[in-house]
Amino acid sequence: MKRFPSFFYFEVGIISECRREEGNMNYFQEKKRKGQKKKIVITGASGFVGSRLCDFFSKSGFWKNKSEHDYIVFAPTHKQMDITEEKSVQTYMKEIHPDVVIHSAAISNTWVCEQHPELSSNVNVIGTVNIGTMCGELGSKLIFMSSDQVYNGEIGLHPHLETEFLRPSNVYGKHKLEAEQRLFNMNIDVVCLRLTWMFDYPKVGSILNQNIIVNVLNALKQQTSIQSPIHEYRGVTYVWDVVKNMENVLDISAGIYNYGSECSGNTYETVGFVFDSLGKNMEKEKLLLADTKRYVNQPRNLSMSIEKLKKTGISFPSSYEGILQCIKESN
Ligand SMILES: NC(=O)c1ccc[n+]([C@@H]2O[C@H](COP(=O)([O-])OP(=O)(O)OC[C@H]3O[C@@H](n4cnc5c(N)ncnc54)[C@H](OP(=O)(O)O)[C@@H]3O)[C@@H](O)[C@H]2O)c1
Repeated sequence: MKRFPSFFYFEVGIISECRREEGNMNYFQEKKRKGQKKKIVITGASGFVGSRLCDFFSKSGFWKNKSEHDYIVFAPTHKQMDITEEKSVQTYMKEIHPDVVIHSAAISNTWVCEQHPELSSNVNVIGTVNIGTMCGELGSKLIFMSSDQVYNGEIGLHPHLETEFLRPSNVYGKHKLEAEQRLFNMNIDVVCLRLTWMFDYPKVGSILNQNIIVNVLNALKQQTSIQSPIHEYRGVTYVWDVVKNMENVLDISAGIYNYGSECSGNTYETVGFVFDSLGKNMEKEKLLLADTKRYVNQPRNLSMSIEKLKKTGISFPSSYEGILQCIKESN
């Protein structure tokens, strides 16, 4: 299959602290004998979210001041388990027999999906079905990373609910929705999380994507303007809030959940808030331009209600609170 360079990453690092277990049978059996720890397979562990999930679950016991890990984390590389290859998924999954799979691997760039719908279908739908099939066979719980882009074809400005009938307007949104539906038709223990666009502050050694903080930092560094739409509404979420909540997701019932921060402002206002929070109010006046034309005929609303998620005891701070926290933690 054709592979794409990670040209949409701002910076590419390596997962140095993640314990990559490669399906080594001796290691696995030895660990199994030692205790009842949950075995977690994390797909897409070289990506923006997967790398942080891997880091978090690998160190989970230590963060709770325990001397041992709570989980055994398996992070197959793309080469070790190509999710589009049924056989490759079968072999890897049968060898590990995980309690939980956190399925993060995807073609996550919407532009790439639009240009290469077959690739998107292959990875985002077929790849997900391959993972789901093996979870069903092995009795593993599946946590699937879906997206707020499933809501991008809807009109109205209300925060979206999981129960809405959806008609996504881009390839990525269509394929995420199709993957959700196909997983649910399999009758397996699956939690689909509809994620918002996420952000983190650049840090050496951390894998980064193009995100709202990085975009503002780049504009400041290069003194280039940013055009942000006033007719677009969406939540953005601090990726570490997504990751730290994931441990509680292991215990929630199967279903679809909106999973991320709520945001009342439009995108222009949110980007403005990033400038302000970085202490760059003056530069904001110069560099941040309101895009009044984009989505003028039909405002784009990806904002989600997380009321259903809150009933499980999981919550998120608002997008603005997340931005403040992210900047604070960068210092
Ligand atoms: N980032 C966001 O803001 C955002 C928002 C909403 C939803 N999501 C969803 O959240 C999940 C994680 O996103 P992300 O930003 O971390 O994505 P990402 O950085 O683009 O990482 C994607 C991962 O998938 C792997 N992958 C791609 N094709 C594969 C294949 N055929 N077999 C095995 N692995 C494959 C990649 O490995 P290689 O690089 O080695 O190919 C990489 O590790 C995705 O499902 C995405 O759709 C992300």
